Amino acid sequence: MKRIKTGIHGLDELIEGGFPSGRTVLVSGACGSGKTTFGIQYIYSGAELYGEPGIYVTLDERPHLIREDCLNFGWDLRKLENENMIRIIDGTVARLGFPTEEEFALPSSGIDIDKLLLEILASIKRFGAKRIVIDSVAALGLSLRSEDDIRRALLKLSYLLGKAGTTSVLISEIETDSKRFSKYGIEEFLADGVIVLHYIGVGGGTTRALQIVKMRGTKHSEYLHPMEITERGIVVKQVEESEL
Ligand SMILES: Nc1ncnc2c1ncn2[C@@H]1O[C@H](COP(=O)(O)OP(=O)(O)O)[C@@H](O)[C@H]1O
Ligand SMILES: [Mg+2]
Repeated sequence: MKRIKTGIHGLDELIEGGFPSGRTVLVSGACGSGKTTFGIQYIYSGAELYGEPGIYVTLDERPHLIREDCLNFGWDLRKLENENMIRIIDGTVARLGFPTEEEFALPSSGIDIDKLLLEILASIKRFGAKRIVIDSVAALGLSLRSEDDIRRALLKLSYLLGKAGTTSVLISEIETDSKRFSKYGIEEFLADGVIVLHYIGVGGGTTRALQIVKMRGTKHSEYLHPMEITERGIVVKQVEESEL
């Protein structure tokens, strides 16, 4: 099976070299757990290190803020956007109705899920994207009335991404103490892999950890791995033998 290097320091070693090519991985965690950083690091590394064009669809955070935050990690998204290696699609317009100065934005007429999916698919084709991140799928469902509609939309999304052949990351926000892996409780079944980012407050400090809950076709670590967000982005640590 072909592997797609994630660019998340320390992660590929835990999943036989990377994400299974062409598959979809769900990354979930509470607010502040590092999901957006994970998604951007995956797209940035793909473009900068592995020559793979990537698309970032942002529904929660505005693109100019993402670009600004990324400079703290030394990631110049603008440069790679100009080189046609990264495309950021502003979906916050569709969600919030704000005007946008972005070159690539989803229509401001509110989220019509079918249109959105076709737009994403067309972008993948036109841009030749090998990687795509949707941040977040929870926000995708906001305009849909029933859980049934949301399930259908997510099914369609996963089918289309599978057909497009991109290696995809879907981001989903969950409550801190949630027993579920995703907002709608269905994303994890559609995804070929599930990674949970934990963010645990202990005393005065906080601890981050990464857990691979499932990765189809992969012999993966089952441990809770300590994780840090550093000036190089997310770094996942090996679990010391003595700690087991
Ligand atoms: N340059 C940085 N150095 C260290 N930690 C950072 C840096 N930038 C962001 N962080 C940490 O990452 C957190 C934000 O992570 P983010 O990926 O936006 O989370 P999520 O998308 O899950 O809400 C911040 O609250 C901060 O703790
Ligand atoms: Mg986020």
